[in-house]
Amino acid sequence: MDSISDGIFERSSVDNCRFIELDSLPSENGRICVAENTAVAPFEIKRIYYLYDLPGGTERGGHAHIANRSLLVALSGAFDIVVDDGHQTRRVTINRPDRPFYLDRGIWRTLDNFSSGTVCLVLTSEKYDENDYIRDYEEFKRLTSVKR
Ligand code: TYD
Repeated sequence: MDSISDGIFERSSVDNCRFIELDSLPSENGRICVAENTAVAPFEIKRIYYLYDLPGGTERGGHAHIANRSLLVALSGAFDIVVDDGHQTRRVTINRPDRPFYLDRGIWRTLDNFSSGTVCLVLTSEKYDENDYIRDYEEFKRLTSVKR
């Protein structure tokens, strides 16, 4: 938990979360988008996972990460993400395979409004580690209470 004292939560900002435009290579028989380590994702990709088969009304997330950063891609369908740095929140809709959303560390996130058939691909900077999660919102508020 040393990294908490490294100031990640004091410095985290919703303004660092942003859409990244991918080149979408068209052809007569479809399109290709490519995401490469560091060239597109602003980190080295260590893991991918995807969310699918999401029941209507599902809410996901409800946590922050100490180190992990992500790119979220709506491969199919659409959903909203609410990002929260403890001081500001922002709701955005993720709905284009060629427009991943970069989610910085130290940000509380909630995902909702999944359309039917949504497939959300997540590219991450870290391997899965439950110790990297802050799942208690009160703790998150305490960690972000002093912003630099
Ligand atoms: P979580 O990250 O809380 O999902 P979301 O943010 O999409 O709601 O993970 C849900 C569960 O899945 C939790 O028990 C941890 C487990 N999990 C893994 O085992 N490996 C992984 O790579 C991920 C992302 C989750």
